[in-house]
Amino acid sequence: MKLVAEAFAKVNRSLVVLGRRADGYHELDTVFQAVGLTDRLSFEESDALSLVVDDPSIPAGPENLVLRAARALAEAAATRPRAAIVLEKRIPSGGGLGGGSSDAAATLLGLSALWELELPLARLEEIGAALGSDVPYFLHGGTARGRGRGERVEPLPDLPPQGVVLVMPPFPVATPDVFRRLGAPAWEGPNAELPAPGAAPDRNDLEAAAEELFPALGAVREELARAGATQARLSGSGSTVFGLFPDLATAAEASRRLAGLPAGSAVRVVPTLTREECRSRSGPRRAE
Ligand code: C5P
Repeated sequence: MKLVAEAFAKVNRSLVVLGRRADGYHELDTVFQAVGLTDRLSFEESDALSLVVDDPSIPAGPENLVLRAARALAEAAATRPRAAIVLEKRIPSGGGLGGGSSDAAATLLGLSALWELELPLARLEEIGAALGSDVPYFLHGGTARGRGRGERVEPLPDLPPQGVVLVMPPFPVATPDVFRRLGAPAWEGPNAELPAPGAAPDRNDLEAAAEELFPALGAVREELARAGATQARLSGSGSTVFGLFPDLATAAEASRRLAGLPAGSAVRVVPTLTREECRSRSGPRRAE
């Protein structure tokens, strides 16, 4: 049997850093939004575990999150990890779009189906959280709030569909570098959190630090705002900068007016995705 699935990308509509924790991570309060840029995965029955990636810049060795997800799932289900996996990358790595985390979540869902496991969602979230802070979000999709390291996910009502312009510079950004640059104060425990869900502030606390390290990112943000974006923000720790527009046509038109982007940037115009759209895309289905 062969199953295929799509792994969608996210942007952070807002990201508040509450402080640095004793374990080295940062306590966050963020709102994730799924967008229609996707990697493709296939999972086929096999005697062993293998991974082929079509992008040579992505390591296909045991450290790849897809293989780590496969092994973690097999261990949790007390079974042997057996599958031939193919990953077609479209989401840039180091882009703040959660590509690797989304691939890991799609793998947990895909292999659960291939191996006919019946682990509850809460158990998959636990396995996912051990792989990366954003992985549990990608088991849900749509609009969702992330707290803790980002791994405590609370689905929010879908926002009205919007058009999104993604500007993906040719360089990756290492998340730990941005957190280090931010130099957040120690987190003292539960304190100020975001206002009521849906009323999240238009802010990303990692933006200034990332733009100090890579000044070109600030220029991209200003360019998107000039092109009429209702919100122009860095996604996560970058390097992707996104602009929100009322619909796809307006976003496409604005994308043609962008000037002075870093050489080699990729520009994509994509829709936001509802939770249901995410479910139907990332839910594994039989290959034709
Ligand atoms: O959890 P994940 O592996 O995606 O995190 C990558 C790195 O980003 C961590 O090692 C840490 O340096 C930083 N990070 C953080 N606080 C978070 C999430 C990530 O400091 N909430």
